[in-house]
Amino acid sequence: MEHKDSSPQTMDTLVSLCKRRGFIFQSSEIYGGINGFWDYGPLGCELKRNIRDSWWRAMVRRREDVVGLDATIIMHPAIWKASGHADGFADPMVDCKACRHRFRADQLCEEHGLALLRTAGGFALPPEVKCTHCGSKDLTEPRAFNLMFKTYVGPVEEEGAAAYLRPETAQAIFAQFRNVLETSRQSVPFGVAQMGKSFRNEINPRNFTFRSREFEQMELEFFIRPDEAVELIRGRVASLADKPDLSQPQDDWGWEVWHKYWVEQRMAWYRAIGLPAASLVEYWQPKAELAHYARACVDIQYAFPFGVQELEGIAARGDFDLTQHHKHSGKPMEVFDEQLKLAAAGMDAAARAAFTQRVTDTWSRDGRDPEAARAFAALLLEGKYIPHVIEPSAGVDRLALALLCNAYAEEQVAGDKGKTETRTVLRFYPSVAPVMVAVFPLVKNKPELYKHARGIFDALQRRWCCFWDESGAIGRRYRRQDEIGTPFCVTVDFQTLEDGTMTLRDRDSMQQERLTLEALKERLDGLTA
Ligand code: GAP
Repeated sequence: MEHKDSSPQTMDTLVSLCKRRGFIFQSSEIYGGINGFWDYGPLGCELKRNIRDSWWRAMVRRREDVVGLDATIIMHPAIWKASGHADGFADPMVDCKACRHRFRADQLCEEHGLALLRTAGGFALPPEVKCTHCGSKDLTEPRAFNLMFKTYVGPVEEEGAAAYLRPETAQAIFAQFRNVLETSRQSVPFGVAQMGKSFRNEINPRNFTFRSREFEQMELEFFIRPDEAVELIRGRVASLADKPDLSQPQDDWGWEVWHKYWVEQRMAWYRAIGLPAASLVEYWQPKAELAHYARACVDIQYAFPFGVQELEGIAARGDFDLTQHHKHSGKPMEVFDEQLKLAAAGMDAAARAAFTQRVTDTWSRDGRDPEAARAFAALLLEGKYIPHVIEPSAGVDRLALALLCNAYAEEQVAGDKGKTETRTVLRFYPSVAPVMVAVFPLVKNKPELYKHARGIFDALQRRWCCFWDESGAIGRRYRRQDEIGTPFCVTVDFQTLEDGTMTLRDRDSMQQERLTLEALKERLDGLTA
């Protein structure tokens, strides 16, 4: 057998496989489709379900310091005012006056190898830029376009009833922070995780599902103590310069170490679900690219056929979000920290004054308001603060696409009659494969064998996603499963009736072995845990 791998040369190959085998369809296809919206077919929705389950297990169920939330898509519009989305969640857009094509201004510039210019009032195109569709230079000035989808709550379409489909799941976590804190028996440091649909009216949806208008996010807000609180409690703040062991969280970690810890956790998870380390890039945003409130942000990127692009962003956002909701809602977002209160109680007046001075000096050096620094220090000395946050924010659809790209391979193999043929195979890790095991009765006209095979299928189906296929030659049945990425095929034959063993065929090696149902279950268990 000669192996010759090739990941999809173009996205077209993958898009067509996704449609042909029921992974992803264009939304509303029978009416000509709707740009930026995609439906997941029978296999696609199993793939997405496995992604979500794996994320939830890793981020919530297997941790004692993270709890879940499932909030509504439409929330009070004041949330988007506080978060900055109502005023600032916009992309610059330009129109070609000749052919009426619409572009995202930064992407149009990128296609010319140029950068969009920033001006006092917004943005400007460099003079060389022209329409990539018709070549005209007659383009509108870039103007900001808010990406939130607007709707109306109730029967009257008036401004007072306007609301938005959430553009991210994260804000609900901040808005419900107090309720979760008070009901979950967690204390800082701890996290709240949420997954669900988000909506962005992207100017230029593209690259299949990569940039869609409706998509799913998996987000964690992990709340930590401000470094100054750690310093008061532990007398020191561990930083990356200390080369800390990142395997277990420690209570002397500052934000920098927590941030790096989450980058490592997330990278390990991507590798564990089958994306090779060599296909992943950890992109540390330079200071100039950071949002004004962010202290650091790392993009985890994947080498897609259309370029290296973001799967997830991991941002250290300071106390920006909770402070915004504290100010806008008028509801306090501070937490009381018993350990901090105890540490502060042990300080004399001189130590308190020295601490306040240190905080004020540091803030002043960073160009921040000294008055606010004094208020912050005074609050800390009372045992209170607004928690800071580390936010790993991932997309389900982008990951599904990355897994599909990564899994795709074409191989030259020897066919039934010795002729070389091309085998298309999706090499998903078993933990994400839409179908875990396919069960075939060798023949369908032997009632005893058929019934026995059905029994095995039923037993496996209780735990795993299984596929029953009784038609065609066994070789053809294997190929059909290869093309949808099923890791294992089981054939029930006459020997099964005698000794209980069946043939297990491995998708990747194409090797076969005989084993019992119990041994098979044990093997599958180890691969899906
Ligand atoms: N709360 C932070 C946040 O939403 P983001 O970088 O805008 O950050 C996080 O989005 C992730 O959501 C991205 O890394 C990506 O995986 C996914 N995502 C964002 N916009 C998307 C889109 N238009 N289509 C598909 N996925 C998208």
